[in-house]
Amino acid sequence: MRKKVSIVGAGNVGATAAHWIADKELADVVLVDVIEGVPQGKGLDLLEAMPIAKRDVHVSGSNDYALTANSDVVIITAGIPRKPGMSRDDLLHTNFKIMSDVVQKVVAQSPESILIVVSNPLDAMAQTAYRQAGFNRERVIGMAGVLDSARFRAFIAEELQVSVENVTAFVLGGHGDTMVPLARYSTVAGIPITELIAPERLEQLVQRTRDGGAEIVKHLKTGSAFYAPSAATVEMAEAILKDKKKILPCAAYLDGEYGISGYYIGVPCKLGAAGLEQIVEIKLTAEEDAALKKSAAAVKELCAVIGV
Ligand code: LAC
Repeated sequence: MRKKVSIVGAGNVGATAAHWIADKELADVVLVDVIEGVPQGKGLDLLEAMPIAKRDVHVSGSNDYALTANSDVVIITAGIPRKPGMSRDDLLHTNFKIMSDVVQKVVAQSPESILIVVSNPLDAMAQTAYRQAGFNRERVIGMAGVLDSARFRAFIAEELQVSVENVTAFVLGGHGDTMVPLARYSTVAGIPITELIAPERLEQLVQRTRDGGAEIVKHLKTGSAFYAPSAATVEMAEAILKDKKKILPCAAYLDGEYGISGYYIGVPCKLGAAGLEQIVEIKLTAEEDAALKKSAAAVKELCAVIGV
């Protein structure tokens, strides 16, 4: 039997994630949204593209969660996006209410599913989903590090005029202004980028990565990025659906790892059929450790505001 992925939120991120999943023939897809007609229309449109894409997956959409029953993976993108001048944190109260409501409905239909949380502010929304779902931490994972790392990789590849396939990068910490791009663990064909890019230039690329989401919002004006965020989400879903045991930077609930307890923060995670199968602990320098702790403190502050 084919796997089933439900996507809550049929906006740009949700619908584009559905597109990537269908195009990779990973699973049947159900889109859910509160807006009447949008999930149905986008779902049917994608279904009708499948004969051309030569993919045998079923795509559908609904306003009713009943259609999501027994999903293997549920991707939650529901919430309002940023407008120019807004930080991800400005979305906190509105998206907290939406997330709390959505997670209850998702869990009622798919009690064995693995949740991938995409809504912002990411780390606090992952924490909200974790508390509401009552799942163990293996089954509630936040998407941010794959996106932030992809932006860093794109900038490095462009800078050095090399294939994006040659570039690996790691971005840890929260998905916000305090994110921690680890230049030391970023390589081009195995060569540390610190040997290829001068420190001042590297710092500019790091800053552009931190501001990556805002740079897109500034261009789009009426919304935020969706191609890279949805592609990043689908890389995580694929690792789970295919039990790849792939190590990706994700937001995970820490229980003492990296000296942090009780909060979601971006760290290297092994994703497989069980969801979060391992948190990989790497030795950080004092400076990196301080940056990660600062990031965790920012997440803690947001979680305190909404009481999760
Ligand atoms: C971004 C938003 C979606 O980073 O968080 O583009």
